[in-house]
Amino acid sequence: MSQNILVTGGAGFIGSHTVVALAESGFNPIIIDDFSNSEPSVLAGLRNILGRDIPCYAQDCNQFSLLRSIIRDHQISGVIHFAAFKAVGESMEEPLAYYRNNLGSLITLIDAMLAEGITNLIFSSSCTVYGNPDNPPVTELTPVKPATSVYGNTKQIGEEIIRDVCAAKPLKAISLRYFNPVGAHPSAEIGELPRGIPNNLVPYVTQTAAGLRKQLTIFGGDYPTTDGTCIRDYIHVMDLAEAHVAALQFSFQQKESVYYDTFNLGSGQGNSVLELVHQFEKISKKPLPYQIGPRREGDVVAVWADVQKSKELLGWSTRRSLEEALRDAWRWQQKFG
Ligand code: UD1
Repeated sequence: MSQNILVTGGAGFIGSHTVVALAESGFNPIIIDDFSNSEPSVLAGLRNILGRDIPCYAQDCNQFSLLRSIIRDHQISGVIHFAAFKAVGESMEEPLAYYRNNLGSLITLIDAMLAEGITNLIFSSSCTVYGNPDNPPVTELTPVKPATSVYGNTKQIGEEIIRDVCAAKPLKAISLRYFNPVGAHPSAEIGELPRGIPNNLVPYVTQTAAGLRKQLTIFGGDYPTTDGTCIRDYIHVMDLAEAHVAALQFSFQQKESVYYDTFNLGSGQGNSVLELVHQFEKISKKPLPYQIGPRREGDVVAVWADVQKSKELLGWSTRRSLEEALRDAWRWQQKFG
């Protein structure tokens, strides 16, 4: 019989793609999402891809009794926790909202899981925990640096909370450190839905190509990299989604009552901002208007992942190229004009 998996934040960008990957791997995902940074139309997109409705609670997941009753009513066997605020700039202006939301919901969720005897948890962490690394690529053993944003700190503290609970209670948990998720489902039924002006590079690029923004500003052209722009590890969101399924299955295989580990999820390859822009121009077949502007405060110079551990232990690696991710992101954008 297929297992029921609770996906908090399952209507969000990474959450919705993971719902697809779970369903395609024979799991029954159940979503809880308060739609504070996602759209109900995602549910229609999921229905179109999967040919069935995915149960969804339109609720804040920071509710102990509600989580307990969902876990009980659906006989949940594992949880993937995405629900969190994620805007770096906003986190500096509203630190309490970020700590309350991101850490409060994590604590409430683990409490509810323990109360119901649910042991398997996958947590959304970020490569932001490595800060500005000295020698990329980074492995999971690369030292974690003090966070440079409140958002980043919620991810670091989130990892610590889970690790500490695992030392005391029967919990099998995995923190997944995402590099830069981009792209969309190839059907263009679901994708990234940034509100207002996008903070992240790829939505800004696709909106500029679509004529919704005048031009892209590249934040800094004088970094000590090959072409002066920052280097990141861009990973197709469907590859990232499939990694969650692999991590969940790996957690179910653990024989001991307690397990905790962290995994990098990236492509293992670094690309500069300019490389990405030029690759995108080839796909859209037109020049992208851009200017080189000042550096953005808090930006890391260069980071990409060593993914050996994820390959070896989770049996997972990326299957899609950056070109494919940009093509899918562009197809998705073109739905909106
Ligand atoms: C950011 C967050 C990271 C978070 C991730 C996912 C910071 C410091 N980090 O990663 O913690 O997990 O988003 O939401 O904010 N760029 C431009 N012009 C733009 C936008 C971006 O040149 O208009 C450049 C940036 O300087 C960077 C690269 O593109 O070099 C990627 O930026 P972005 O997509 O915002 O991701 P990160 O900053 O890597």
